[in-house]
Amino acid sequence: MLKIKELTIENPILLAPIAGYTDSPFRKICMTEKCGLSVTELISAEGIVRKNRKTLEMLKFTEEERPISIQIFGKDPYVMADAAQIVENYKPDLIDINLGCPARKVCNSGSGAALSRDPARIESIASEIVKKCTIPVTAKIRTGWDDGNKNYMDVVKALENSGISMIAVHGRTRAQMYSGRADWSIIEDIKKHSSVPVIGNGDITSHEMAFEKINETGVDGVMIGRGAMGNPWIFSGKTPGIEEIIEMISLHIDLMTAEYGEYGIRLMRKHIASYIHGFRNSAKIRQEIMHHDSKRGIMESLKELA
Ligand SMILES: Cc1cc2nc3c(=O)[nH]c(=O)nc-3n(C[C@H](O)[C@H](O)[C@H](O)COP(=O)(O)O)c2cc1C
Repeated sequence: MLKIKELTIENPILLAPIAGYTDSPFRKICMTEKCGLSVTELISAEGIVRKNRKTLEMLKFTEEERPISIQIFGKDPYVMADAAQIVENYKPDLIDINLGCPARKVCNSGSGAALSRDPARIESIASEIVKKCTIPVTAKIRTGWDDGNKNYMDVVKALENSGISMIAVHGRTRAQMYSGRADWSIIEDIKKHSSVPVIGNGDITSHEMAFEKINETGVDGVMIGRGAMGNPWIFSGKTPGIEEIIEMISLHIDLMTAEYGEYGIRLMRKHIASYIHGFRNSAKIRQEIMHHDSKRGIMESLKELA
């Protein structure tokens, strides 16, 4: 059990934000397997305050997705705080600040991982948000900008000073992007020296490994991103048979079409590829599914799964 201020999280295995993946249907899927906390993808604070229609759409969620965190990114403390106030009207359980996105587009504008180079700015962003919000505010960080600049302790202290309630750490630098291995010794170091709950993140591929990391490093919980793609059972520890996998895909398709209409079928292809990855004939089925525009066709192809 994990406590973030007044919020109690039963399962310490949480969903990590993944742009283009952790939408409302995927969050519901993860919650069917008792994921501890669901989360949106990164959402632009600028877009929120400008009331951009598409951006505001991304803030929507349903009760089954709780507890849920909404993640925002930006660099201006006042814009971020105004955005957080708008976000709070949607009544999420947490608001998370993105301090780890390595994408050039995000970093060049001074947001995401670029902020790690300016802990003073991080402190003012987080302080302004904490001041304006009544729900707990959290942050997700990397270990630093690059090998020569692993200033994570400065960032952690800046966040603690601002009154943040939890810190999630992806054990890579910005320069590493998603390559190499997450450095869990840094995550352990942060946990040892931090006064707020610390969530470890990076390269967890199974339920057992999640608890190994918690036991080895003492972190309060873990976040799983890529390991949850096509494998929501990573949160519950169940080992699904082929039938359960097909049932989950069927439910996922229904949720996708309810959310996006027919386009949901196309968006579902990448998810199905993940669900069936590793099966003997997955390559052939994946090919077939590329040509289906209906749930019926997809389900027919999945009958061949072996
Ligand atoms: C395609 C992709 C999109 C991502 N989008 C986000 C995001 O929107 N916000 C965020 O904080 N992290 C994002 N991440 C980082 C993940 O949350 C996570 O920190 C990283 O993938 C390492 O964890 P994992 O090994 O469990 O996937 C993204 C990662 C990937 C691969």
